[in-house]
Amino acid sequence: MTRRKKQSTKASTALGESNESVNRTDSRQRIIVGITGASGSIYGICLLETLRALGIETHLVLTRAAEMTIAYETGHSAKSVRALADETYPLGDVGAAIASGSFHTLGMIVAPCSMKTLSEIAYSLSGNLLTRAADVVLKERRRLVLMPRESPLHLGHIRAMAAATEIGAIIAPPMPAFYTKPKSLDDMVQQSVGRVLDLFGLDTGKVHRWSGKPERD
Ligand SMILES: Cc1cc2nc3c(=O)[nH]c(=O)nc-3n(C[C@H](O)[C@H](O)[C@H](O)COP(=O)(O)O)c2cc1C
Repeated sequence: MTRRKKQSTKASTALGESNESVNRTDSRQRIIVGITGASGSIYGICLLETLRALGIETHLVLTRAAEMTIAYETGHSAKSVRALADETYPLGDVGAAIASGSFHTLGMIVAPCSMKTLSEIAYSLSGNLLTRAADVVLKERRRLVLMPRESPLHLGHIRAMAAATEIGAIIAPPMPAFYTKPKSLDDMVQQSVGRVLDLFGLDTGKVHRWSGKPERD
């Protein structure tokens, strides 16, 4: 594991403070990112790039299926995605820092989240570091945001989403908002990632916000 210097000090925290007034090693400035093997690994990649630009320290866990989808769907490799994070951990390392509630973080985002991982989180099956870290975030009453991608959904998927919601997770599927008049795939990805970071009080500056009137072309 290697630690890199953060890139920027421009973000505002979930507590509404500017980074200038917050110690760079302050625990409130860390977010755990999980990337699973659901389609849409670009969401996790965009999230890591955005958090880096915001100066938020990222702690990354990839599943084995995520390594496959990253290779299938993007020009990245698992290695190049890991290089976007401040800290990365092997999936089996259930003794890592993020496996303990004593390690302070703002919370965790799983982007994209497979139905397999969502179900494991919903029923507190902490069989790997990603699901253990998510369980810890829930037990510490920190913010856990899951971005599931599957369609169509059967009742088991819907029940698992309800169960995850009941124990405190936020289900935020990456569904494009067309009122923003997206011009590209990147616009859609940035909007979804930005709206998820809104849940942490972090403004990417790239979210198209509804003003009461449609945007001009
Ligand atoms: C190209 C590809 C796309 C996939 N898309 C999805 C998907 O959108 N949603 C999903 O739940 N699983 C999807 N899967 C299946 C998951 O990768 C599979 O269930 C895997 O076991 C999930 O494991 P993980 O949660 O440990 O990453 C996809 C698999 C591949 C290879």
